[in-house]
Amino acid sequence: MKRILVAHDGSKSSEKALKKAFEIAGKFKSPVVVVSVIPDLYLTELMEMDRRRIVNALSEEAKKLMDKIRKRSGALSVKTSIRQGDPAEEILKAAVGMKADVIVTGSHGRHGAGRFLLGSVSSKIVDHAECSVLVVK
Ligand SMILES: Nc1ncnc2c1ncn2[C@@H]1O[C@H](COP(=O)(O)OP(=O)(O)O)[C@@H](O)[C@H]1O
Ligand SMILES: [Mg+2]
Repeated sequence: MKRILVAHDGSKSSEKALKKAFEIAGKFKSPVVVVSVIPDLYLTELMEMDRRRIVNALSEEAKKLMDKIRKRSGALSVKTSIRQGDPAEEILKAAVGMKADVIVTGSHGRHGAGRFLLGSVSSKIVDHAECSVLVVK
């Protein structure tokens, strides 16, 4: 377990994933990169100004979240990265970029219907990742 990527969207489920990743990183002295993706907004009826306002609000929120996570990292090596685009695609690209050995995700996120076994982002990651994926429940 060398290089760990944690996908964090601010949800309770991804917070569980982060805790588990920190636990593993502590045992194996693995470097951790926490990635948060600001999703592209495709609603065509959204005015450009509103779109920008929402993206700015989400970016601010993600920055605060990542700052807090870095402060909690203690003796671990933890980096954070905020990207924009399709969440699953960006996480998969980040994993290739950092040569991750494992991607850690929550089973659910902020927007999904809890009735599915796996959220849409985590299930796309499981399907397409080149490395192992740990879905934390
Ligand atoms: N925008 C995102 N940025 C980073 N990680 C994400 C993002 N969206 C989802 N994830 C990861 O995927 C997990 C499952 O979320 P998701 O598949 O989106 O479920 P749901 O469909 O319930 O929203 C989250 O706990 C998180 O680890
Ligand atoms: Mg989601």
